[in-house]
Amino acid sequence: MRKTSGLTAKIIAFAAITLLATSALSAALLFDKSEYAARRQKLMEKIPDGIAVIFGAQPIASYYPYFQNNDFFYLTGVEIPNAVLMVDGIRKTSLLFFTTTEAAARNEGISVDLVKNPREVTGIQQVLPYENFTMMFTMMASRSKVLYTPFYPEELAREASTEKFMTLQRNQALNFWDQRPTREQQFVKLLKEKFPMAEVRDCSNFIWEQRAIKSPAEIELLRKAGRIGVKAHTEMMKATRPGMFEYELAAVFDYINLKEGAQELAYGIIISSGENHPYVHYYKHDRLLKDGDFIVVDAGPDLNYYDIDITISYPANGKFTPRQKEVYEAALAVHEANMKVYRPELTAEQCRKEVEEILTKQGFDLTKDYFKRLRGGFGHYVGMATHDVTGGPQVLKPGMVFANEPMVIYAAENLGVRVEDTILITETGCENLTAGIPRTVKDIEELMKKPGIPQVLKKAGLY
Ligand code: GLY
Ligand code: MN
Ligand code: MN
Repeated sequence: MRKTSGLTAKIIAFAAITLLATSALSAALLFDKSEYAARRQKLMEKIPDGIAVIFGAQPIASYYPYFQNNDFFYLTGVEIPNAVLMVDGIRKTSLLFFTTTEAAARNEGISVDLVKNPREVTGIQQVLPYENFTMMFTMMASRSKVLYTPFYPEELAREASTEKFMTLQRNQALNFWDQRPTREQQFVKLLKEKFPMAEVRDCSNFIWEQRAIKSPAEIELLRKAGRIGVKAHTEMMKATRPGMFEYELAAVFDYINLKEGAQELAYGIIISSGENHPYVHYYKHDRLLKDGDFIVVDAGPDLNYYDIDITISYPANGKFTPRQKEVYEAALAVHEANMKVYRPELTAEQCRKEVEEILTKQGFDLTKDYFKRLRGGFGHYVGMATHDVTGGPQVLKPGMVFANEPMVIYAAENLGVRVEDTILITETGCENLTAGIPRTVKDIEELMKKPGIPQVLKKAGLY
């Protein structure tokens, strides 16, 4: 073997150290720092006449883990409490403000690399202590004609900004003596008072329109989250027996979800069975499952801030009645026909028409009552929030991720069906990010003959 010269060895050693350092640093952020820089760049392009201020989430006064708010995390990848981002659309630069110590960072599971080398890790041009923010912002804002900030409330884990906003509006209407503004509303008011010469504008949509189209890195993460959701649903279905409480199913889902690496649930697990079918977001988990019950479970993981939305519908005893089978197969047929037609540039109206054509060709009788409610179409966007920003798609575009979720309920029959997967629109069609759950009647019945985790534990005398 050729002997490496002293100089070459030194270069290789230096390169190895640099590589190691780079990989350790880049691990401090979820995605490559260039991805966050590109997002801030796109925001800058939307605000050529002003500066935007986006506040990060505050520390929480409870024993829940800290989560950054989604818009801040989307633009920075930074999980530090009480941070602030300024994006300057005039000078085309970004500034990050935060103050923390290495000990506090360790305590909160924040990357120490990020705290020690914030510029290098984040790629943000200027990183300053939080204490500098007010002076810096005042100087810059006084010279700016337009000030941007998100008007919608921050979106934390299990939240959706627009729904949170509507709830707040309703609460204010209902509670005359409690008219507290949100942090964002208060900031807008302060900006208008302190900088009367400037125009204050909302920048929520400039961030949300980016969030609606997922990048390759986001898609890879969503695929991983999807696989966790598939495993958790499959194990939970297999574990189901009459005589169990719904909370036992939720526990199996939760166990697999965490075991496979998710940090959280995308939303509180929804289980509707028996007389609860009309309540499509029922989450009390308090029914004892009976022989003959039909169950709808809507649940998904939250993996590194990215959510998955899946619903399965199946009989508690593992055997469909003829009526359960009829209604379930109709919903499944619509779900599958949707998958056949989803592609870029498809409109909801086109989708409905093409799905009808497919179902007719397959021999379904579209005059049946359930087909009045089971139509082809698109559900809500899915992403950092389960009901992700700006509702749902009107026209499909590559990179969009949304729910395919046909649903029908016959309350008088204690019967409800929802078949839901999280779908990605590709350049040529679509990809089911949550493929792999037993969906046909035959596959569900086969799976449910097998023992699930609780049955195995019980048989072994372990629990
Ligand atoms: N997981 C909530 C929904 O599908 O609306
Ligand atoms: Mn759902
Ligand atoms: Mn959904």
